[in-house]
Amino acid sequence: MKQSIPLIVGNWKLHPKSQAEATALAQAVATKHKKNPQPYVAIAPTFVHLSTVAQKLKTSSVALAAQDVSLEALGPFTGDVSAAQLADVGVSFVIIGHSERRAQGETDSAVVKKVQQVLKRRMIPIVCIGEKERDEQGQFFSVIEAQLRALVEGLTIAQLKKVVIAYEPIWAIGTGNTATVDDVKEMQLYIETVLTKLTDRKVARSIRLLYGGSVKPHNAAALHADGGMRGFLVGGASLKASDFMAIVSAVSE
Ligand code: PGA
Repeated sequence: MKQSIPLIVGNWKLHPKSQAEATALAQAVATKHKKNPQPYVAIAPTFVHLSTVAQKLKTSSVALAAQDVSLEALGPFTGDVSAAQLADVGVSFVIIGHSERRAQGETDSAVVKKVQQVLKRRMIPIVCIGEKERDEQGQFFSVIEAQLRALVEGLTIAQLKKVVIAYEPIWAIGTGNTATVDDVKEMQLYIETVLTKLTDRKVARSIRLLYGGSVKPHNAAALHADGGMRGFLVGGASLKASDFMAIVSAVSE
């Protein structure tokens, strides 16, 4: 992936209700983004809809993403889906450590193991980080630093350079309380500073950062122009093709 081209990922979460609706939504996105080289666009349906959505994306430039992956490769792990299985159905990106998964007990060390599984299968991990709330004293920065540190310490530099990091403040997810452009810019600089401290400036600058949390058609252009991130992870607004594609257009040069 070229760093200069933004990446927009739609995270469908536990939507839609049926295979027919998933297919229709994927078809609408694929048709609107036919063979466009930029920005990079990916959509992440539930596991059960991956194969049918993959069929719809075949002739488009929209990539397939998954919302999670097992930290194990194979074996007695009921309910899990492995990186090999995802790669086999055509998945290119895997969201890891989303706050909604961390809320169910996913730890930093599980996140690292999942990243390793995904990289082994030559897919791109999108690792989510973010604070629950903000405080006047700026303690929330230490939450971000700890999540970044766990990632850097668990991976080799070569692995780390292949990771996409999505900054998603939990207070902004699904709430309509989008972070301000200044909040996003400040966090982009902070994440790069921490990564520079833990690795070096070149490595830090090579890691793609996304913003996620109530990205909508009306705020995408400003967040993109001045927020300093190289794309978005979009939840709610990715469930309506016209909204999602309006966000895609907002970042198109
Ligand atoms: P949202 O979700 O856009 O609905 O806030 C973002 C996410 O959880 O990835």
